[in-house]
Amino acid sequence: MSHNIAVIPGDGIGVEVMPEGVRALEAAARRFDLDFKFTDIDFASCDYFERHGKMMPDDWRDRLGGMDALFFGAVGMPERVPDHISLWGSLLQFRRAFDQYVNLRPCRLMPGIKSPLAGRAPGDIDFYVVRENTEGEYSSVGGRMFEGTDREVVIQDTVMTRTGIDRVLKFAFELAKTRPRQKLTSATKSNGISITMPYWDERVLEMAKSYPDISVDKFHIDILTANFVLHPDWFDVVVASNLFGDILSDLGPACTGTIGVAPSANINPEGHFPSLFEPVHGSAPDIFGRGIANPIGQIWSAAMMLEHLGHIDAGKAVVDAIERVLAAGPSDAPLTPDLGGRGTTSELGETIAEAIKTG
Ligand code: NAD
Ligand code: IPM
Ligand code: MN
Repeated sequence: MSHNIAVIPGDGIGVEVMPEGVRALEAAARRFDLDFKFTDIDFASCDYFERHGKMMPDDWRDRLGGMDALFFGAVGMPERVPDHISLWGSLLQFRRAFDQYVNLRPCRLMPGIKSPLAGRAPGDIDFYVVRENTEGEYSSVGGRMFEGTDREVVIQDTVMTRTGIDRVLKFAFELAKTRPRQKLTSATKSNGISITMPYWDERVLEMAKSYPDISVDKFHIDILTANFVLHPDWFDVVVASNLFGDILSDLGPACTGTIGVAPSANINPEGHFPSLFEPVHGSAPDIFGRGIANPIGQIWSAAMMLEHLGHIDAGKAVVDAIERVLAAGPSDAPLTPDLGGRGTTSELGETIAEAIKTG
């Protein structure tokens, strides 16, 4: 079966790690006899913005909407284009227009990686952040008034809808059902945010009635971040609003050694629109151009894309290859500096692609 994949590298290290993601897909395609048709997309980048005065052409929905999946790197070059312009002009448009309301972000301590948390070994950190991805704190409702005067005021509303909350909760509960520990944690802040967050809690309790076998707890986001560090072994599936999920999904991977390995799937579970697969990290302007970016977040995102497209074995083979290469350690594998090695992006990508091919 053939799949049409849009390849959208974006900016900065997105451009460096993307070829390694594609290389992994090609290796998996060879081994599992799959057929990918890649379409290279040059928009959704700050280069495009500087040439055209906008992040994307007007027909971007038509050009991407019919794809089977979007494979995305990272966007943002804040020295050249303000972040809210580049991100609201690209990634955040994709998530909304293609109704990718689940952002699924695994946090797993891999063999061979040392956690910055003392005494933690693989198995101690293995959970998913399920982030609401289309509404919540990321709303465009609000405005700026009396600009430039002493009365200047800025307002941005949080928008939560019953449908929006329930559909992401359902996804999270269903995921918890497939996990050995059958556990779901909700991130809240209903002590301080007195309208939207109590409503979020209410919907969690309501949804929990349909899942009597899942044990449910909740933490306010402040202590939850502390518990990620102190007790990462408590967590299995963590469901959160858009902003809380964003924060937790950098903190979780940091607890697993480096955000450079963390993948994500922006999913439209009904399949009405293409889903988007991208590393959790950004364009890392601080290391861009040095060829040392860790490509594993991009490659693991390729694995999530394979699984989403129904190629479960191929997805597992990619994750398995990543694990084997990491387990070899920096003396035997060209791991990148964030993993304690001296390898380059392409050396690590090639090694993982070889491991995918050989199985
Ligand atoms: P960042 O994730 O780009 O970088 C944070 C830190 O992590 C940096 O020190 C960077 O060098 C390091 N890092 C990130 N990825 C790495 C990798 N693969 N290997 C090794 N080290 C890695 O976050 P930031 O600095 O807050 O943002 C930089 C730009 O990226 C901004 O424009 C921001 O808006 C954008 N951004 C984009 C996305 C996205 O496109 N999905 C996500 C986050 C940030
Ligand atoms: C992420 C990123 C984005 C987000 C930014 C770049 C808009 O941090 O994908 O986690 O906040 O969702
Ligand atoms: Mn983020």
